[in-house]
Amino acid sequence: MELSKRLEEALNKQINLELGAAYTYKGMEQYFREEGLPQYAHFFEEHTKEEIEHAEDFRNFIEDVDGHVVYLPLEGVSTEYSSPKEAFEAALDHEKMISASIRDILEIAIEEKHYAAENFLRTYIDEQVEEENLFRSVLDAIKHAGEKGAAPFTLSQILKHED
Ligand SMILES: [Fe+2]
Repeated sequence: MELSKRLEEALNKQINLELGAAYTYKGMEQYFREEGLPQYAHFFEEHTKEEIEHAEDFRNFIEDVDGHVVYLPLEGVSTEYSSPKEAFEAALDHEKMISASIRDILEIAIEEKHYAAENFLRTYIDEQVEEENLFRSVLDAIKHAGEKGAAPFTLSQILKHED
């Protein structure tokens, strides 16, 4: 199925958002490294890889439907947060922004009756439910367990559950 310019642009923008998320999480990893909280740093190190995989997945889809991939500019990201809670709140907000963008592209795919794009994007609707839930769980753990006390332990429990 041929890709319209509008859908191609939206998918390319999504590649940029996924790479932007990877870069944002790299900044968060750095914040936690400098704070001396290696478990949180590792969490973001791993999550950066996942975001790069998402970007590649969108790249592959564009290629599969004979589209053209564009790598748009990335903005600088912060390595400074006032607390672990603030960093995870920012991460959750970031995921919500990504979810909204995927919903917008899905609406274009539906409108244009591009069923292949629709199927592909729906897998990302599900993925975003998991992503938001993951960050929300960590945030809840931080809120309930104290930022430097039991939370890293709770975090390992959550991550064990994730595997
Ligand atoms: Fe993602």
